[in-house]
Parts: sequence; C-alpha cells; structure tokens
Amino acid sequence: MPGLIPERFIDELLARVDIVDVVQQRVPLKRAGREWTACCPFHDERTPSFYVSPAKQFYHCFGCGAHGSAVKFLMEYERLEFPDAVEELAQSVGLAVPHEGGPARPREDHTDLYALLEASATFYQRALPESQAARTYCKKRGLDAGIIERFRIGWAPGGWDAIKRALGTSDARTKMLEQAGMLSTGERGKQYDRFRERLMFPIMDRRGRVIAFGGRVIEGDGPKYLNSPETPLFHKGRELFALWQVRQANTKLERLIVVEGYMDVVSLHQADVTQAVATLGTATTNEHAELLFRAAPDVYFCFDGDRAGRSAAWRALESVLPRMRDGRQAFFLFLPEGEDPDSLVRKEGREGFEARLKQATPLSEYFYAYLSHDVNVATLDGRARLAENAKPLLAKLPDGAFRDLMFAELEKRTGVHGMPSRAAPVARRRVEPGTAPRRTLVRSAIAMLLANPGLAQEVTLPHAFAELDKPGIGLLVELLDFLQERPGINTALLLEHFSEREEAAALHKLALTEFPGEPEALRVEFLDALRKLEAQTVQQRLDTLIRRQSEAGLDAAEKDELRLLLARKAQPTARNE
Ligand code: UTP
Ligand code: MN
Repeated sequence: MPGLIPERFIDELLARVDIVDVVQQRVPLKRAGREWTACCPFHDERTPSFYVSPAKQFYHCFGCGAHGSAVKFLMEYERLEFPDAVEELAQSVGLAVPHEGGPARPREDHTDLYALLEASATFYQRALPESQAARTYCKKRGLDAGIIERFRIGWAPGGWDAIKRALGTSDARTKMLEQAGMLSTGERGKQYDRFRERLMFPIMDRRGRVIAFGGRVIEGDGPKYLNSPETPLFHKGRELFALWQVRQANTKLERLIVVEGYMDVVSLHQADVTQAVATLGTATTNEHAELLFRAAPDVYFCFDGDRAGRSAAWRALESVLPRMRDGRQAFFLFLPEGEDPDSLVRKEGREGFEARLKQATPLSEYFYAYLSHDVNVATLDGRARLAENAKPLLAKLPDGAFRDLMFAELEKRTGVHGMPSRAAPVARRRVEPGTAPRRTLVRSAIAMLLANPGLAQEVTLPHAFAELDKPGIGLLVELLDFLQERPGINTALLLEHFSEREEAAALHKLALTEFPGEPEALRVEFLDALRKLEAQTVQQRLDTLIRRQSEAGLDAAEKDELRLLLARKAQPTARNE
C-alpha cells in the first residue's frame, strides 16, 4: 500500500504557499487589479486571458478553461504527478511531506521501475572497467575518468542475458526489466538483453533518476546508437539528455546549448561547457522548446552544416517561435561540414567553441535568411512570396517587442505591412453587483462562500434551511459542513475537493464571481442570504402545514409547529424575500 499524503497536510501546504509566487516563477505575471494575468501557458494566445487570484488561490484561463490550485498548476505545467507536485511545493516552503501508512514513497507503482533502472546503470558502470575493449574506446574518444563518473557512462557486456541474469532474478523482476525497455523479444518469444556490447549513456530525468539508456556500438554492426524504447518512464520527445547534469553544474542557468549527440554533450561538459544538452535522436519538439526556455532565457541550437542539420534547425525554429516571449533569445550555430561539437571542441578547445557561440546567428536573422534563400527579393513577386511565407509564422510569436520588431523587419524587407490586427481580448465574465444576471439566493450564497470560505465559520448549526426544497440547497449544506470540518482551506482546495462531482463545472463558474466590496460587506450579505433562506424554509413549511390543515387536518404536534412558525415569522429578522 502506498503511503497517502494526509489531506490536512495539503490544507496546510496550500495555506502556506502563494499561488502567485508559484506561477510567477514560471510564467511572468502582470498585475490586473486584485488579480494577476498573463498569456495562458496552456494554450497559444496573444492576449492574456489567464488570471491568477491571490484571494482565491486559483488560476483560471478564460480562453481554454484551464483552472485549479497551485498543486494542479505544478502538475500541469511541470508535468508532475500529484505526489511530486506536493513534494516540490512543500520543499519550496520548507515543509516535509508526511505519509500515512505504507512506505514513505507515495507513488503508485513506478518505484520499482526506477530502482531497477538505477540498478542497471550501476551494473553497466561496474562492467566498464572490466572490458578492455570499452576502456580502449573511451580512451580513443578522449573521455576522462571524471566525465565517465559524472555521466555514469557504462558498458553493456556481450552475450545475450547479462542484465537479465543479473537483475531479472524473479518472474516479476524480469517483467519489470521488460517494462523498463531493457529486454528485447526474439521471434520465438525468447527474451534477451536489448543492449549488448555497447557503451552505455544513462538518461536521467529532471530529478536525476535514470529513466532510459542510449548505447553506442564500438565495433561491429547494428545501429550506431540504440535508445531505450518509449516506456512508462521515458518519452523521448519530452526528455533532454544531460539536463540533469547541466542543473548540477550550474546554479544559475543563463543559457542552454542544444546539440545533436550524446558524445557532443559529454565532450562539451568535459571541456567545461556545462550547459550542453541533446535531444534524443529526434527533432526538437514543442515540448523540448518549452522545457528549454523554462530552464534558461537563451537557447543556442547547434547543428551540423549539412542539409540534415539545416532542416533540423528550421524545425527547431518553428518549435520555438510561439515561445519567443520578450527576454528570451534563440541562436543558431551552423558547424563546418564534417564537424560536430565533439570534434570541434577537441580541436579548438573551450575558447574556440565559445567564440563560435558568440558568432551564432540570432533567430531573427536566420528566419529571414532562410525564407529569402530561394526567392528573389529584388522583384516584387519575390517580396510578395517572402511576405506570404513569413506572415503565418510571425503570427505565432507571442505579443511583445520582439514580435513588433519582426513584423517591422518584414515591412522593411518587403514593403508589406503584415501585422494582423490584434484579436479582441476575451471578455471577462465579471459579475458586478446590480448588473449581474439574476442569481438565485442559493447560488449567490454558494458564490459568496467560494469567494471567502472562511464565512462558513460564521454559520451555526443546524442549518435551518437544509429542508428547503430548492436546487442547490444540498450542495450549500455540504459545502458548509466540509468547510466547518476543515477550517482555513482556500477556494482552490475547496474546488478541488468537489472536482469529481457533476456540480464541479457550475461551482467553478460561481467561484469566478467577483465581490468587489470589503470583506465585511460580503460577510453581512452572506449572513443575510442565509437568513433569507431560513425565512423561505419557514414559509415553505407554513405553506405545507396550512395546505394540510385545510385538506386532511393536522395532528397535535403539527398544530404546535404551525403556531411556533407563525410566531417566528412575525420576528423582524426573519422577513421573507
Ligand atoms: P551522430 O551519428 O552524429 O552521433 O548522431 P555522434 O554523437 O556524433 O556520435 P559519435 O561521435 O559518432 O559517437 C547524433 C545523435 O543521433 C542519435 C544519437 O542521439 C546520436 O547521439 N542517433 C544516431 C541515434 O539515435 N541512432 C543512430 O543510429 C545514430
Ligand atoms: Mn560525433
């Protein structure tokens, strides 16, 4: 049984963190009245419709509907599972996550898979010094002991079942080896080691856990590099090789250098260029671009000078365009034919390589150079073509000075004013008092409670209105009960608790209601609403009793009740609406 994180801890955690800080560290926010706003990180947009509310401690996008608490934000933005998001938030405010029952690790099932991959990495590391061929190869490639250690480079022994024998010591473990991508299955269903006689590069995730491997042949046949397949832990379009090592080596990361190969990364790090990462035998995906810019403001893409390199560079450009917010820069470095970063840095040293980086082409320049490449801008037709090709791409740029400058450059080059008129901002559904669409009393009460969950502490039990036959009463009572049981929780958490319910969407909508007045005014209004509901309940019961009196007559108890109710109704505080 996995250890559960107690709900009270989540309450405490969310009371301590400020969602504005959590978001601000990842997405620059601007003040907008009582709230903060930005272009939504969860969909492409140019006018901000993403709002973060410090009072309610939730975020909401009026464009795509994304919403939630600080925990949900971390889960979505950093692609973390719930326990990891909680862990990260807890660390940020110096809390330790307690676990109830079961082992400390809260994760559902992957623990063993991580452990197995860790054991595999260690197994390969230990095998390296034992292989003459592997040692010779490392020497030939100029890898020193320090870098072999830092990257945990290892050796997958020959034969068919070295890892299977070492780690697949039970059926369950063999099954896990297979799940982890460490085994291949032959035609007759026989399983054997995927990696054999290869130099092994473990791929770590952002927390330094081994999630996959790349293996290079040192002689003989087969593909030069073999990577782990996609597994529950490894999605190559989302991972960057060496991002972990980069983070370890740099406390403040100003730049990242994206290269194509494992060896390029390792050589650069060895030469003390410790910001090098690589995509894993794939083109730069949008997810990579997001990951890169989240880690550092300047990203250098390094490609071979050949055709393949150029097309890879253009694809990288396309993936970063929508992410080129002001303050971020992308550069493109094209290497001479026949060279790669590994060969260059060995030839020219760190200084030589840094000098090349200084000369790298900025995105703006590469963009126009590439698009102008096969058009004749001396002719009107050529310029029209350039403008036509550039416009849809420039339209992907987020709002800001860079976008404006890129369009200005287009105009300079072509005479075409390409800047599209800005889309009208998504209207906020602000509910101002008076102008508000008429809400039922119940809905108003719920909205006020969501705006300030602390109001629940003002209410005394039992709720006289619980019997009222109106839609939403049950939910209101439930919300009040829940809040009285867990005082101090905020709107975001309250919503999260009800997120599985069919009323979830309606609740969320109500939570967006703005109550611009003072908290005291809200309190008065809320209590007044509850009093009105009580009065309606009394009226409802009166109506029932009076109807019954004329139809079937009342028994003694009912007669007493009727008298009591009539007396109560006469009290000035219980006026009906
Ligand atoms: P390269 O063939 O340029 O490799 O492939 P490299 O890094 O220069 O390797 P060395 O210097 O010959 O050892 C670049 C990257 O493309 C992927 C790997 O990620 C490799 O590092 N690749 C290449 C594969 O996945 N499979 C292959 O068969 C070849
Ligand atoms: Mn190479």
